[in-house]
Amino acid sequence: MDTITFMLLFILVLVITFAWTGLFGAPWVPTSMKMVHKMLAIAEVGPDDLVYDLGCGDGRMIITAARQYGSRAVGVEIDPLRYLWCQMLISVLGLRDRVKVVYGNFFNQDLSEADVVTCYLLQATNLKLENKLKQELHPGTRVVSNRFSFPGLYKVREDGDARLYLANFTQDESQKE
Ligand SMILES: C[S@@+](CC[C@H](N)C(=O)[O-])C[C@H]1O[C@@H](n2cnc3c(N)ncnc32)[C@H](O)[C@@H]1O
Repeated sequence: MDTITFMLLFILVLVITFAWTGLFGAPWVPTSMKMVHKMLAIAEVGPDDLVYDLGCGDGRMIITAARQYGSRAVGVEIDPLRYLWCQMLISVLGLRDRVKVVYGNFFNQDLSEADVVTCYLLQATNLKLENKLKQELHPGTRVVSNRFSFPGLYKVREDGDARLYLANFTQDESQKE
């Protein structure tokens, strides 16, 4: 195979993956590292927390949560290439005891053990996800969304595009978005 054919095939695979994951929830657009820290900081992630990143992409959120905030973390990813990338990174960085990545659709994943849920999806996907979060998360679970909102969850803070919600926490219904 010559170089041009290889490049074209490579670009085709990227375009197909982008469109395909977009159909399931959101295409891969990584959160900037500055925003990763902002999201983990606004949720006050610490060593006692289990963080779930829904659609974990290249694993930056789960790896940063474990390495710099001391938490345990689980990523769920539907793109097989990015899933394998995460597996490789977790092994190379020696994080197997604290970080896990699950291959599959986060809509089929049990989220009941999460203390913190992070996501960067699309507005329509957040709306579809909201009921699942309400049904499965324990009261007070922190949900941090990059850019897109959860209109039916109780919002406690926002810092730029980082929005922090408390799941199933209804002390002040009037402050719902
Ligand atoms: C916008 S990217 C965010 C990646 C990462 N969370 C970050 O903040 O850098 C969305 C990711 O979600 C994945 N994704 C989309 N729909 C999904 C689904 N239903 N289940 C699991 N992963 C999904 C995509 O493959 C993509 O990697």
